[in-house]
Amino acid sequence: MSDSILQLAGVHTYYGPSHVLRGVDLTVGHDEVVAVLGRNGMGKTTLIHTIAGLVKPREGTITLEGERIDGLAPWRIARRGLSLLPQGHRVFPSLTVAENLKIAADNGGPWDPKEMEERIPILAERRRQPAGTLSGGQQQMLTLARALVRNPKMLLLDEPSEGLDPEHSRIAAELITEARQRGVSILVVEQRVEFALGVADRVLILSKGSPVFVGTPDELRAAEDVQRQHLGVGA
Ligand SMILES: Nc1ncnc2c1ncn2[C@@H]1O[C@H](COP(=O)(O)OP(=O)(O)OP(=O)(O)O)[C@@H](O)[C@H]1O
Ligand SMILES: [Mg+2]
Repeated sequence: MSDSILQLAGVHTYYGPSHVLRGVDLTVGHDEVVAVLGRNGMGKTTLIHTIAGLVKPREGTITLEGERIDGLAPWRIARRGLSLLPQGHRVFPSLTVAENLKIAADNGGPWDPKEMEERIPILAERRRQPAGTLSGGQQQMLTLARALVRNPKMLLLDEPSEGLDPEHSRIAAELITEARQRGVSILVVEQRVEFALGVADRVLILSKGSPVFVGTPDELRAAEDVQRQHLGVGA
């Protein structure tokens, strides 16, 4: 148990009568990056939201560092060191870039706003501008920076590469890899298979709310039939 930070066992999540997650078992180790892939609508965001407490599982258990978190309010889960980057950039549009970073920052760890401005130069250049004036990709980088300056134990990232140009994709991948080296565990949902395979230690594919593949990036690269069937690539 001490090898893993997050464990899901037999998790089922519904929206009203609609049965979305259908028995998810998943373990994320300390300092591990696990990528979740799958076609649109297969339950990836629902998985992230279930872990973060935004939607409660009807069955199954979720433990963070050995303690049950399923059924807890989202803010209680966040206080235990879990930070969520929601799908679609979410910033405070009328606050400046610098203010967006400052209000997210938790001084108890290695990432701080100053470092983020150094690593993501556009955030330094635009620091006095309202965040709502940034492009979508720039807002996405600000969202990632906000997740990191919370200095979480574990990050849940829902499509962090969405809308990023190649340069910012590279920076985002580097930041994810560095966060792992600094001891942060990461669960990352992605549409871009190559981005996911570049940062992940292990990959899980969801289809209709159930895991249909778990393996290393190399194992997935070799499993062309799995890629074709569940990711729509390599056809
Ligand atoms: N709030 C909701 N109420 C009802 N149904 C929902 C809700 N959110 C998602 N769903 C449905 O649950 C299923 C899984 O959606 P989810 O957003 O988890 O998929 P996803 O894998 O993240 O998709 P995408 O790749 O498009 O982001 C879909 O059929 C979706 O229509
Ligand atoms: Mg989604």
